Amino acid sequence: MYVSQTVATSISHEVSEIYWWSNAITYQIYIRSFADENGDGIGDIRGIISRLGYLKELGVDAIWITPWYPSPQHDNGYDVSDFMDIDPEYGSLEVAQELIDKVHQNGLRIIIDIVPNHSSNEHRWFQDALASDPGSHERNRYLFRDGKGEHGEEPPNNWQSVFGGPAWTRVVEKNGELGQWYCHIFAPQQPDFNWENSEVRDHFIQVLRFWLDRNVDGFRVDVAHGLVKAEGLPDAPFQEHFGLLDSRDFPYWDQDGVHEIYREWRKLLDSYPGQRMAVSEAWVNPPSRSALYVRPDELANTFNFDFLTVKWGQESIKSSIDRSIEGMAAVGAPVTWVLNNHDVVRAVNRLEMDFMAADSPKDPELVIETDFFDFQRAKIRARSAALLMLALPGAVFLYQGEELGLPEVLDIPVDRLQDPIWKMSGNKERGRDGCRVPLPWKVSVDGAFGFSANSEITPDQSWLPQPLDWGNFSAEGQENSADSMLQLYRNAIGVRKRNPSLLSSHFRWMGSPDDSFVFTRSEDSSFLCVVTFEVGEPVPPDYAVLLSSQEIEFRQIPPHTTVWLERNGSACL
Ligand code: BGC
Repeated sequence: MYVSQTVATSISHEVSEIYWWSNAITYQIYIRSFADENGDGIGDIRGIISRLGYLKELGVDAIWITPWYPSPQHDNGYDVSDFMDIDPEYGSLEVAQELIDKVHQNGLRIIIDIVPNHSSNEHRWFQDALASDPGSHERNRYLFRDGKGEHGEEPPNNWQSVFGGPAWTRVVEKNGELGQWYCHIFAPQQPDFNWENSEVRDHFIQVLRFWLDRNVDGFRVDVAHGLVKAEGLPDAPFQEHFGLLDSRDFPYWDQDGVHEIYREWRKLLDSYPGQRMAVSEAWVNPPSRSALYVRPDELANTFNFDFLTVKWGQESIKSSIDRSIEGMAAVGAPVTWVLNNHDVVRAVNRLEMDFMAADSPKDPELVIETDFFDFQRAKIRARSAALLMLALPGAVFLYQGEELGLPEVLDIPVDRLQDPIWKMSGNKERGRDGCRVPLPWKVSVDGAFGFSANSEITPDQSWLPQPLDWGNFSAEGQENSADSMLQLYRNAIGVRKRNPSLLSSHFRWMGSPDDSFVFTRSEDSSFLCVVTFEVGEPVPPDYAVLLSSQEIEFRQIPPHTTVWLERNGSACL
């Protein structure tokens, strides 16, 4: 029996200090798609307030809200025109304050997205820059450059936008002639700031203060690895760019200069009471490179994209766990675990297809072809992955709908696609809308399956159309079903919270047969997590099953299953 075998690997990873973010479960709210209270088919802040009870019952510790600032919504709020206000589509500063206060009254925390790499092209600063001359103070807040070629007709370098096409757009100067170019690593409506300019740095300190004063607990730092560009903006060594996940050595990613910014931010965060934090979205590789963002004087957490993009399999997952834990151990920061977010294909689909290629599907025809998709197999793996993730040491980030087992919506009609990737890729990539479809709350179709408080809104009228069977995944539909995905998440989060060893940083591999792995989270091995892949395993004789991602009959763990075990008589709970 594997439990009695010698320990194969042991990782002792002590986080330097325990903060709330060391082992918190944070629930990502994609505001546009979470809950619509004012009945316009678009999610809003009052919608979030109306669902706080649900989040409490789910058992999460914190929520993260995607950008809620005024925005022309070219990239669903990641194009911000004012960092210190709220988009009227979502509410107002007063409603935001009401939410922050209610979150706290419910014993939860709230972090908000901050987008420091770029603004909207409608931001006052960018409008001022367009109206000013080359070399002006106004232009120096962004990355304006003269073009190459005799008349400046070629972009200043070969950088490509993450969404497709060149990362430079040429502007018309005051004299009506084509003039300088500005840099946008994302859409042309998202001009990049010049972080060499102290005015930009000071502005963001002011923005952080603005929200810290309103009592947010922290920030999710968008494109944290992109703020500083290599000196002289040299050509990139690669011509194409493979989207957000492409973490190769580009002159605009992961430059050492970014760390100085986060050191300053950390000082600011620490000057506020109540453990304020920031988590970085930095698509960098390997985890030892991500670890630099969470050195003791920098940010608190960084998303673990190594785990998110790992292939489903014994060896690959095990080594990703090792890399992740070792990477963070080097800097004494908590590890994080992520399976989903608003930029990647939902895990249900990724895991089923045997690949974890998380990027948006490349071929628009292929993704409409759903015949090959085995939903049963997908569910089995997604349940196993969820239970595995919730047993690992550190912090967990859930993405709305993950707890409902929502699949990617693969057949949104092309005339309804909203993601800028669709247009910017020349209609070659459908983009990320498939994981952003509004949540189904109720079985009945009214109000787009309860997404909208306006019962007249049909599934087709929500800002992204919902599939007609969406009600099957609804929270209401799963509420009373003991073996639903929702109950699995609720039960696992509950057990995790009541079991001190699951909140500790203790982690040790146990010996196991080739096609499974086993780890313990307690010194005395009283708690075990077993994960099987192609081949099942028996439950060891002296252990009882606490939770399992699949039904266990005759003490036999089926393939592709995660099981939490406690030693008989040890009363882990
Ligand atoms: C966000 C994306 C967004 C991009 C540009 C990201 O990494 O998560 O949704 O499109 O930044 O702001």
